[in-house]
Amino acid sequence: MYKRFRRLRTNKTIRDLVCETKLSKDDFVYPLFVKEGRFDKIEVASMPGVYQMDIETIVKECGELIAIGIKAILLFGIPEKKDNIGSECMGEYSLISRTIRAIKQKYPEFYIITDLCFCEYTSHGHCGVLDDKTGQVNNDKTLENSLTQALVHLKAGANMIAPSGMMDGIIATLRNGMDKHGYSHIPIMSYSTKFASAFYGPFRDVAQSAPDKGDRKTYQMDVANRAEALEESLEDEAQGADILMVKPALSFLDIIRDIKNNTNLPIAAYNVSGEYAMLKLAGKHGLIDYDKVMYEKLLSMKRAGASIIITYHAKEICEMLN
Ligand code: PBG
Repeated sequence: MYKRFRRLRTNKTIRDLVCETKLSKDDFVYPLFVKEGRFDKIEVASMPGVYQMDIETIVKECGELIAIGIKAILLFGIPEKKDNIGSECMGEYSLISRTIRAIKQKYPEFYIITDLCFCEYTSHGHCGVLDDKTGQVNNDKTLENSLTQALVHLKAGANMIAPSGMMDGIIATLRNGMDKHGYSHIPIMSYSTKFASAFYGPFRDVAQSAPDKGDRKTYQMDVANRAEALEESLEDEAQGADILMVKPALSFLDIIRDIKNNTNLPIAAYNVSGEYAMLKLAGKHGLIDYDKVMYEKLLSMKRAGASIIITYHAKEICEMLN
C-alpha cells in the first residue's frame, strides 16, 4: 500500500514540485587571496584549485567569476612584510585597498566583502595586538586597530565588512565608527559564531597565517559549546550585525539551525578550507562522486538555515547550476 511519501516520489517532476531546498547561484560567496608581488598565481598544495594571486590576476579572476554568475567575493590579503601589530593592513595603500581599487576600476558593480583580521599581517600570527603582560591578544587595542583597518577597506570601496578576529565588542565598535565616518549604509557580516576549529589548517597555509606559538582558544569559541554559540551570535545581532555567520559549517549544522530558530537576520555558513580539502582529496582518489557529494554538502548548509554560503566550491557549484 502506497502512503503519501512514495506517491510524491514517483518521478522527477513531482519530486521537484515538493522539493523544499534548492541551491541557486545567488547563494554563494567565493573567497579570494591576494598576495603582494608580481607572479600570476601560486597553487597551494593543501587546497587544490585554490590560489594565491597577484593584483592583476585577481582582477582577471573577477571577470571570470562574473561570467560564471558569481556575484560576491570575500577578500583576504597576504602582505610582503609582517610586524607585531600588523601595520600593513592599516595604511591607506595597503594590499587590500589597492586590490579593491583595481577590481572596482574594472568591475564597479562587483560585490566585495573584506575579511577583517590581523592574523595574516602580524609576525606572531595572532588575530590582534599582543598584550605585553599576558602575552594574549589585547581586546581593546585590537578593537581600535580593527576600525582603522575597516576604514581603509571602505575608503577603497569595499561593499561589506566581515570581522573575523573574535574580539569582544567588535560589532558595536565597527558600527559606531563606520556610522560616524559616513559609512552607515555599509553592512557588517559578523563571524559571530566562529569556533577554534582544526578545520582551518589548509587556509593557514594559503593565507600564511598560522600562529607561531599557542592557539586561538583565548578568542575563538570552544567547539563543544552550543548554548554559548547562540549567545555570541545574538550578542552580535544586538550590537548591530546585519548578517550572522557560523564557521566552520559542516560539523556545526546544529548551530546554524539553533541560530536560525532564534533570529530573523540572514545567516551565512562558512564552508571552510579543511572541509573543502577533505572532499577534494576523496574525489581525487575516486572514493566518492565528487559533484554529488559537493551538492549534498552545500545543500545541507542551506537546509540547516543558512541563506549565504561562503565556499571554495563556489565556481564548481555555480558552473554546475548553469
Ligand atoms: C582569519 C580567518 C581564518 C579563516 C577565515 N578567516 C583563519 C583562522 O581563524 O585561523 C579560516 C577559513 C578557512 O579555513 O577556510 N582569522
